[in-house]
Amino acid sequence: MIPVALDMSRVPQHVACVMDGNGRWAQAQGMARTEGHAAGEEALFDTVEGAQEIGIRWLTVFAFSTENWKRPPEEVKFLMEFNESLLVRRSHELHERDVRIRFVGRRNWRVPKRVLRRMDEAVDLTQHNSGMTLNIAFNYGGRAEIIDAVKEMIDDGVQIDRIDERTLERYLYDSAMPDVDLLIRTSGEHRLSNFLLWQIAYSELLFTETLWPDFRRNDLYDAILEYQARDRRFGGLNP
Ligand code: IPE
Ligand code: IPE
Ligand code: MG
Repeated sequence: MIPVALDMSRVPQHVACVMDGNGRWAQAQGMARTEGHAAGEEALFDTVEGAQEIGIRWLTVFAFSTENWKRPPEEVKFLMEFNESLLVRRSHELHERDVRIRFVGRRNWRVPKRVLRRMDEAVDLTQHNSGMTLNIAFNYGGRAEIIDAVKEMIDDGVQIDRIDERTLERYLYDSAMPDVDLLIRTSGEHRLSNFLLWQIAYSELLFTETLWPDFRRNDLYDAILEYQARDRRFGGLNP
């Protein structure tokens, strides 16, 4: 249920989530780490529904980082196949709910062609939807994103005196993506792990002990309540 104290007129426009703690969740129950990733699916879909219910326009979730390739090959393989199957199984449902699916991340490095194809299909299917945007950070690294943007700017011959924040933003993976208002990380880790470095310059950060597979829309609402109690100043002063 949406808490009565939640101010529907001050819902963050863009919420980002580091969906962390899947492995520990599984291990705590004597299961394989991969079971935790599978259990994260319900958490994700409940969070998407909850976000839509309160009118969040952008939800960006960290699904696979450029550093996650360091994991054992079986886990990497599982994650690739799991994300692929999730797209196949659930993109129509998201489409029916008017969700627009997008991706940020490095496309031309390591991700199997098959997975890229599924990603493109999901993006194409949902491209005209005007409900919430579910933005999936896949093979994503914040530093890689900035490097890729700089390379493209140079490639385009952008003149030095034309380079400002707006210009660089146009070269990020999704130039239409707004800055993040609220960043949530689950599992009690207090770090960014190379997520959205540029876009979180002025985000409110919220860390919760809840492991991702246990996260539900109520946890999202709690996070929004805390967000609404904060005083965002952006370097200035509020009256
Ligand atoms: C997050 O859960 C999912 C991915 C990184 C793909 P983890 O797999 O990092 O789970 P923990 O942090 O080891 O518990
Ligand atoms: C960040 O979590 C990446 C994702 C949730 C996809 P990690 O579990 O990979 O981060 P570290 O290794 O604890 O910093
Ligand atoms: Mg982790």
